[in-house]
Amino acid sequence: MKPVGIIGLGHYVPQKVLTNKDMEKMVDTSDEWITTRTGIKERHIASKYEAASDLAINAAQEALKDAGIKPESLELIICATVTGDMPFPSVSCLVQKAIGAQNAACFDISAACAGYVYGLITAKQFVASGTYKNVLVIGTEKLTSVVDWQDRNTCVLFGDGAGACVVAPVKEGGILSTCLGSDGSMGGLLMIPAGGSRNPATHETVDEKMHYIKMRGNELFKLAVKIMADAANSALKQAGLDCKDVDCFIPHQANIRILLAVAKRLGLDTERIFMNIEKYGNMSSASTAVAFYEAVKSGRVKKGDIVVLDAFGAGLVWGACVIKW
Ligand code: ACO
Repeated sequence: MKPVGIIGLGHYVPQKVLTNKDMEKMVDTSDEWITTRTGIKERHIASKYEAASDLAINAAQEALKDAGIKPESLELIICATVTGDMPFPSVSCLVQKAIGAQNAACFDISAACAGYVYGLITAKQFVASGTYKNVLVIGTEKLTSVVDWQDRNTCVLFGDGAGACVVAPVKEGGILSTCLGSDGSMGGLLMIPAGGSRNPATHETVDEKMHYIKMRGNELFKLAVKIMADAANSALKQAGLDCKDVDCFIPHQANIRILLAVAKRLGLDTERIFMNIEKYGNMSSASTAVAFYEAVKSGRVKKGDIVVLDAFGAGLVWGACVIKW
């Protein structure tokens, strides 16, 4: 297999910031509770004029510029999202039109918070097989469009944003190993019950708030810790590496306590974990994407470093990959 890596990164978060103090005026909560229980201080909120594709377009344009390639060179666009503008057309098709990537095939991936890692691993297969040279992968979410702003258990957790990368052949290093997994039997722990063919939108589904995120946080917490640690270990083992070889661990930013517990299980000291949950909350597929972008652009990840991306989300689904930067 030819080496495949990431040749450009981009991101975008909406301008408006909602702080924990702002949340105190909306639901019965406190900055102290949110900070200590989740690690979140603020999150970015898209305006009513911004949809998931608008965030994605900005991130995509930055990733193309960073990669130094023209949109016409893209042969595939994979967009990971659970908050697409509409059921169809796909967000990837909307992005294609906006950025002028007329030579690209397009599809979306539904893998919730693990979507960006799923997208990256899917892109890797297309490039490694020689089918395509330049693939754009995006994680984009307007999660605040599916949040119940009266439910303190969930509304404090989520934010909006997008991250993107260009996957292409590289001379050396790149994506060394990957791990994907799912457990559909646990799907009920985190879901949006209505809006699909099971419960199409009716006055009743709207009145019963069935179009919002329903989450059993406690049960997910425990599963997330075990599953993310196992996924990272599995990908590292495949690459012939060990936790001690990891320079930067970039997990899905769901809850700081989950991240610290995963790190403890892996035997990683906190200096090696990249965390930005404080600024953004959980942006589902965009979380890992934006964290990856910031880790690289801030200089936290240096050439030759071993990086692990690790994500977990509704489905349940999970994915990890080891990258030599
Ligand atoms: N402010 C104040 N109190 C609150 C708030 C809030 N915002 N939210 C909940 N509480 C209360 C609860 O009502 C409960 O009160 P009670 O004891 O009187 O009933 C108490 O705090 C404790 O609630 P728990 O749910 O036990 O709190 P916990 O410590 O588990 O934290 C949390 C909740 C943050 C949701 C945590 O369980 C978590 O992060 N879970 C994992 C989430 C996750 O990983 N999701 C998967 C990825 S997301 C995706 O795929 C889209």
